Amino acid sequence: MLWLHVFLLIGLGSAYKPLSDSFLRAIPSPGDEFAIDNNTGILAPLLIPRVPGTPGQAVAQRHLVDYFKRELPKWTITWQNSSQTTPTSNGKKLPFANLIIRREPPWVQPGQANFLTLVAHYDSKLTPDGFIGATDSAAPCAMIMWAAKVVDGYAQQMYDEMAALGEGGSVEMDMGIQILFLDGEEAFKTWTDTDSLYGSRSLSNFWVNSPNPPSQKFYKYKTPLSQISLFMLLDLLGSSSPSVPSYYTTTHWAYRAFSTVESRMRSLNLLESSNSMQFLPDLNKTMAYGGISDDHLPFILRGVETLHVIPQPFPRVWHTSDDDGAHLDMKVVKDWARIVAGFMLEWLDMMEVWNGDEPEAGGEGAKIMT
Ligand SMILES: *[C@@H]1O[C@H](CO)[C@@H](O)[C@H](O)[C@H]1NC(C)=O
Ligand SMILES: *[C@@H]1O[C@H](CO)[C@@H](O)[C@H](O)[C@H]1NC(C)=O
Ligand SMILES: *[C@@H]1O[C@H](CO)[C@@H](O)[C@H](O)[C@H]1NC(C)=O
Ligand SMILES: [Zn+2]
Repeated sequence: MLWLHVFLLIGLGSAYKPLSDSFLRAIPSPGDEFAIDNNTGILAPLLIPRVPGTPGQAVAQRHLVDYFKRELPKWTITWQNSSQTTPTSNGKKLPFANLIIRREPPWVQPGQANFLTLVAHYDSKLTPDGFIGATDSAAPCAMIMWAAKVVDGYAQQMYDEMAALGEGGSVEMDMGIQILFLDGEEAFKTWTDTDSLYGSRSLSNFWVNSPNPPSQKFYKYKTPLSQISLFMLLDLLGSSSPSVPSYYTTTHWAYRAFSTVESRMRSLNLLESSNSMQFLPDLNKTMAYGGISDDHLPFILRGVETLHVIPQPFPRVWHTSDDDGAHLDMKVVKDWARIVAGFMLEWLDMMEVWNGDEPEAGGEGAKIMT
């Protein structure tokens, strides 16, 4: 297990090439897809109460599923459902439904791919009445939906080219993308170990007991948990001036890569929010913060490497009725979506398929032209 992780980190850490400036420039802004003043696009339909077992949550579920079916039909969609009582359910079991959405290389056997895993919870908190949870976590869900769409075309091209060459079978080659939209993150009454994280506890439990079929490959992942190369959890994003520290030493290298994508996009003036503040400033891991209780905990306890993208301090609107669309900083929301997309493209080594480099004197582009 330890050996496997070390191997994986070295494999991925050294494999990828930074995106070129032109590639960073080509990452589109979500634009009107994130408009909140009508019920269209990616974000607006999620800005409703989405409490487990309520009609609002069913609307949110349909929006998530319909988006992938319509925009990203090659991604597989599966549910992992459970039912659990809560301190406010009077002994009745509430349904909790996690969505697992994957894009795998076409050649992989079950259990063969490793997944860059983007995670956000899509349920909303029971109280205060009418709570929307725009940063918590409607906007993070929307960011992931947008980033998936940006990445999809390049993934297709990469998988096509590799399949044509008969490649595949190494960690770098068998990279896929996985999205987890988790249910029941919020407590119904007071946050405790049993009143919170209903969906993530259920999914991590399910996966630890779901051994992959035996494989011919010399490396193999015992369960879907070990297929997660990085569990990147987005939460409480969308307010002005976020500052996200690096929480874990074992994934600080990934934090640095993420932060570098942000600073490069800023120095190219590609972002809409003020360049005077970085979302990911903790390059040298000097900000001292302990871990925060969130959906990654049941996974961390089972050895999954986590990058927790949650600001410190929390947004001012946290768990109040002000956490709605009107209080989002749309420039920040859109910038997060593009930075996440940039990080994903780099992780997936998409420079391999990028051919949009302008020739620059003496630069990388010039070499390509010869
Ligand atoms: C939704 O609102 C945005 C921003 O105001 C606008 O640009 C877009 O055209 C609207 N979409 C529809 C379908 O009305
Ligand atoms: C899981 O729950 C979702 C949401 O309610 C539902 O659409 C889906 O059919 C359920 N899947 C299974 C396998 O029960
Ligand atoms: C990180 O450390 C390096 C080398 O010690 C230093 O040059 C740099 O300014 C530091 N960066 C930040 C953001 O603190
Ligand atoms: Zn919350």
